[in-house]
Amino acid sequence: MREFSFFMPTKLVFGQDVVKKAGAGLALGKKALIVTGRSSARLSGALDDVLEALSGEYVLFDRVENNPTGENCQEGAELARRENCDYIIAIGGGSPLDAAKVMAVLAVNEKSPLELYAQGWEKKPLPIVAIPTTAGTGSEVTPYAVLTIHEEETKKGLGGPDLFPAVAYLDPRYTASLPLQVTIDTAVDALSHLVEGYLSNRASSASDLAALQGIAVWGGVIPALRSGDISLQVREDLLLASMLGGITIAQTGTTFVHALGYPLTYFHDYPHGRANGIFMASYLEFTHAHAPERVEMVLELLDLPSLNAFRELMNELFADYVGKLHVPEERIRAYAEKAAQTKNVSYSRGTPSVEELTEILKENIL
Ligand SMILES: [Fe+2]
Repeated sequence: MREFSFFMPTKLVFGQDVVKKAGAGLALGKKALIVTGRSSARLSGALDDVLEALSGEYVLFDRVENNPTGENCQEGAELARRENCDYIIAIGGGSPLDAAKVMAVLAVNEKSPLELYAQGWEKKPLPIVAIPTTAGTGSEVTPYAVLTIHEEETKKGLGGPDLFPAVAYLDPRYTASLPLQVTIDTAVDALSHLVEGYLSNRASSASDLAALQGIAVWGGVIPALRSGDISLQVREDLLLASMLGGITIAQTGTTFVHALGYPLTYFHDYPHGRANGIFMASYLEFTHAHAPERVEMVLELLDLPSLNAFRELMNELFADYVGKLHVPEERIRAYAEKAAQTKNVSYSRGTPSVEELTEILKENIL
């Protein structure tokens, strides 16, 4: 018998000018900590819209790094405490959104970031308003934050039901200033969430609802990603697909694609979506042996005739990056061993062994 639950407590507001239209309703408290990276919140126009709409007090923390560390989050949390902020407005891609979640926890819990992984937290984090400026992470609708942990030489996810943002405002115009390669990298992250969620051994009828719609929407933008002609309509579809990917993995988690992608980001500086994209074709091939009907449904919704056509698509989108890494073989084995210890691998159908993960790594990065 089917057995599942579905929890997605974030209020979604999607469309043009949704932040401006929210006006004073944007505020969830008396004083906001506005959390951004160094540039995208400004470039996208989102920060201006927030400042125009917001009538209450705020303090700005605009120093979130790419792939943020716990120390970076601690800095923002200290500012929130010092300034008595009682809620957070997070604007940006995955890095600012994820960092804001950890700041929300640390602002009210006396712990180090590493202690959060080992012990969790007691006090309810500050409520978050999330405003994505990329279409990929889906973090605006997930209970996860991924941090760079130098002590363990990897990126690692933190999760808890109270990390879901309270409200997410999604305006596709905020993604319009993204360069093409960033658009592709982030779009492939969204695709990986949708596909990994659909193929996860934790998928349910409820998570499939979001995943199937999202994969179909993503399939519709393939010609635009190939040609590089990204209209506002395409931006809208990508933001929708990204949101649906977030809703999916909020229920299922991700699988071994993400586990293999993390070392490419940590050691080789590959943007997260690109690091996933490198392994997606092999992932579909591996999973086909365990759930052929599901893999074939993915191909059908993407309107791709075969697994090979999927591999060609990824090779085309990442033409400048495929096969360009030169990693010594012993490192590859170490990456596979580390990946094998993650939950993501246990959520994968067919649960690949260290040997199988090593083969997949070799196949795609040597
Ligand atoms: Fe991701």
